[in-house]
Amino acid sequence: MLLWDETLFRNGEVLELDHVPEYFAHRDPQMQALKFSLRPAMRGMRPVNCLVKGPPGTGKTTAVLKVFSEMKEHTSNVVFSKVNCQMDCTRFAVVSRIYEKLVNIKPPSSGVAFSKLFDKVIKQLVDSNKILVVALDDINYLFHEGHADEVMYSLLRAHEQYPGVKIAVIAIISDIGISHHFDPRVGSVFLPEEIVFPRYDAGEIRDIVKNRVKHAFYQDVVPDDVLERVVEYVDLTGDLRVGIDLLRRSGLNAERRASRTISVEDVEKAYDASRLIYLCRSIRSLSDHEKTLLELIAREKDTQAGELYKSFHELTGLGYTRFYEIIGKMSASQLLDADFSGKGMRGRTRVIKPRYEPQDILKCLEH
Ligand SMILES: Nc1ncnc2c1ncn2[C@@H]1O[C@H](COP(=O)(O)OP(=O)(O)OP(=O)(O)O)[C@@H](O)[C@H]1O
Ligand SMILES: [Mg+2]
Repeated sequence: MLLWDETLFRNGEVLELDHVPEYFAHRDPQMQALKFSLRPAMRGMRPVNCLVKGPPGTGKTTAVLKVFSEMKEHTSNVVFSKVNCQMDCTRFAVVSRIYEKLVNIKPPSSGVAFSKLFDKVIKQLVDSNKILVVALDDINYLFHEGHADEVMYSLLRAHEQYPGVKIAVIAIISDIGISHHFDPRVGSVFLPEEIVFPRYDAGEIRDIVKNRVKHAFYQDVVPDDVLERVVEYVDLTGDLRVGIDLLRRSGLNAERRASRTISVEDVEKAYDASRLIYLCRSIRSLSDHEKTLLELIAREKDTQAGELYKSFHELTGLGYTRFYEIIGKMSASQLLDADFSGKGMRGRTRVIKPRYEPQDILKCLEH
């Protein structure tokens, strides 16, 4: 029996999703490729741009952060900036984030033009004689509405306008089965080293999960059958984040029962929430209007675009253009299908369907 002031967690912090683990195995070739591309910066040369690709939860962000922090220890003339494009999803927001990193002050959020802010960033780089390495993490969130091309174009062509400035970009794409292409004008200056992060196999997953368990829980809290079940679920989804979230939630479930060990049932119960972690993360990044529309779609299941627009307009007062922009964005992030169907008296109408179970979408919207 676990006493009320006792805990199963030796260090729960290592189960936080943004924790950068000390033990990061099975990614040596990718880490080497990253270091090799960035190394020229240590000698004052422009680094090689990189395109980092792979399914969700395969260690892309973690690998880049680890390489950044290793390199930071050996150089002071390179600025490493990681931008989370899920949060900062416009050209202005991306450059604000870089500016903040460079001068340690947040720029004003409005009233300044992009070009002015960008000029300041460049001037700062030139004056301090520093090289900038920008990781555009989850750049897929920038693809709709053309922001990805704009951001890449500005960063990669900066040296043409401001001779001497050295900027390299690491574009990180979470690969969920849609292909993203840059504009040819961007492609011709990007020319990246492609670094692929494949799914981990069951053995690798077991090793990583086992190590996390060792740091997160006291001894004997996680029996072998529990560990195996977690490994199976990670293997099923391919997303290590699911496993880490499962460990945290099942630990809490066991504590709630005042048990000294986690049981397979604790894991099963936790899976209902953990399996939705990817979906919930995508939904969390939506604006309130976008969430309103998604909720309408989830409640209706299959709706004609016209009817949907009417309800959306009544709720938000927004017009047709914005409505279609949002539909485009959400189908680009695979939240819904917006196909044209041939049926109907009035010719081709657009039917809009959620791509996930409606009740799962509603569950994520509640949080
Ligand atoms: N090789 C590894 N060793 C230890 N932990 C790992 C490893 N790979 C991934 N992880 C852990 O899995 C989680 C997901 O990793 P990360 O965030 O780097 O994935 P990602 O590829 O960037 O995913 P997404 O495309 O969804 O952004 C993190 O908590 C990270 O600590
Ligand atoms: Mg990531």
